[in-house]
Formats: sequence, C-alpha cells, structure tokens
Amino acid sequence: MAVTTASAPGKVILFGEHAVVYGQPAIAAPVTQVAATAEVRDTPPGTPAGVRLIAPDLAQETWLATSDDQDALAAAVRQVQAAAGLPQLPNLTITVHSSIPIASGLGSGAAIAAAVIRALTRHLGRPDLATAEQVAALAYEVEKIHHGTPSGIDNTVVAYEQPVYFERRQPHNLIETFAVARPVHILVADTGIRSSTKAVVSDVRRQWTASPAAFNQLFAGCGHLARSARRALEAGDLASLGQLMNENHRLLQAMTVSSAELDRLVAAAQSAGALGAKLSGAGRGGNMIALIEPGREASLRATLLAAGARQVLTSVLK
Ligand code: PMV
Repeated sequence: MAVTTASAPGKVILFGEHAVVYGQPAIAAPVTQVAATAEVRDTPPGTPAGVRLIAPDLAQETWLATSDDQDALAAAVRQVQAAAGLPQLPNLTITVHSSIPIASGLGSGAAIAAAVIRALTRHLGRPDLATAEQVAALAYEVEKIHHGTPSGIDNTVVAYEQPVYFERRQPHNLIETFAVARPVHILVADTGIRSSTKAVVSDVRRQWTASPAAFNQLFAGCGHLARSARRALEAGDLASLGQLMNENHRLLQAMTVSSAELDRLVAAAQSAGALGAKLSGAGRGGNMIALIEPGREASLRATLLAAGARQVLTSVLK
C-alpha cells in the first residue's frame, strides 16, 4: 500500500505585515521548529470508496465528497485534483498533523495546505506540481477561504522554505529568496491570544479607506524598512536590523494592530537586551519576535515568559 508523506514549516513575518497587502515589500522566514505534516495512503480494497480526510489534532474526520466549501483540507485536495486534471481521485486516506499553533500568525493554515498539496501531488505521480512555485500557487487558493484577500506571503514562504522578499504584484508576485550573511537568531513568543487575520486585515482596510493619506504613509514607511532590512540581512548587520524591527513595531502600533500584551512582550525584550523586537503577523494577539545575540537565548526566553508569553520558540535563519 503506497504511502507518501510531506511537511511544511511554520513562518514568521520579519518586516512588512499589513503593508504587504497594499503592494509594499515584506520579508518572511520559515520557522522549522514547528511543522505541518500530511500523509497520503492508498485505502485498502474492501473499505468504503472515496477520499477520507483526517485531522486528529482538530478531532476532524470527513469525506471529500461531503465536505463543505469552507473546509480548507478539502480545498487543498480539490486544488490538486483540478491542477492534475483528474475527474476522479483514487481511494485515499489523507491524515494531517500540525505542531503549529493556530490563529497566532505562524502560518498554520498555509503550512497545512502546502503539506497536503506536496504529499498528494507526489502520491499521484505529479512531481511537476510539487515545485515551490506550484505549491505556493495552489496553497494561495486555499488561503483565500479563511483570509479573504491574502497578500500571498504566507503560502510563499512555507512553500519555498527559505527567507523570502515578497511583493504582491499583478500578474505575478515578486518572490526573491536571498542569503543572510550571518545566522539570525530570533525568539518567537506567543501572547496566547488568538486573533483572526481576516478581521484585523479588514479593520485596517476600513481605517485606510477613512484616512488614506495617513495609512498610505504608514504603509510606505513599512516598505522602506523592509528594503533596508533586506540590505541589513545581506550584510549581516544585526544591530541595524534590530533598530529596523523596533521602528516597524512603532508603525504597526500606529496602524492600531498591536495590543497591550504584544507591547508588553516587545518592551520586555527591548529592555532585556534584545537587538530589536516587533509583533509578527496580523497582530492584536498571536506572536511577537525578538532578535537576539546568540548566547542570550536562555535569559531572554525567561524574560519573555515572565512578561506573560505562553510559549517561546527559537528560530535561526541561515
Ligand atoms: O497570517 P498572519 O497572522 O501572519 O498575517 C498575515 C500577514 C498580513 O500581512 C497581515 C496579511 C497578509 O495577507 O499578508
């Protein structure tokens, strides 16, 4: 009985969240300490026909044929079926596990979609549909279910599994992978507060519509920081990178997407010697990130936990 497995990492946005929806550049990186995995298995003869979708972590078990159009797992499978031009799929059992916290800005939805797309395309003997570019494109269609108008950065970084410099563009997004000159150590601290990306993105849109000049200026400021940050990463200038993160956090505060909990963790990291800190992702909950010097991990982790973080992950970008 053939079995195919694949995985996709979590992600953090280092620079440019929200502004990226309005065409500004942003930088995101994978977080490999957490991942989504998908296993595709041929169903043994004699068992009921169809495609079974199982997500034990979510206590979810459905059939593709009867799933509704809000089911992201089913949507990922349908994207592959359509891309492969198959009128019908063989009888399969698809099981998904994820250690990525949901609704916290770590890209859990995009990673689950990417893992399923990768495993299923390979299982069907279509490695041409399992390239980073194809996986990103198919996962984008799935992201639309929960996010409305996603910029595309989440599905891109989990599909490429490398730091990416991203700009939303028509007809094709600008996607550039790039090398960092020195390892970048970051802590990712969770406020424990769930936040709906769709709700925060639409509230920013409401404010932008009411005050376009002010918000365009904030977005342009974020774009400027993302461009400078890419140069700092490529030069290994971590001190400048940290300053740019602090500035990005201030712009996100001005967009009203921070929260008391996020501000508390950011301030705690900054005063405990982090090179820089900011919220990461949609905001109003979810995670913040702190840039640290190697060797400072244990003390900064303790600081963040004492300031209320529910979980602290480490990520090293190389
Ligand atoms: O999924 P999150 O919480 O990391 O947020 C995505 C980042 C936004 O820029 C706020 C939205 C988007 O589509 O890029």
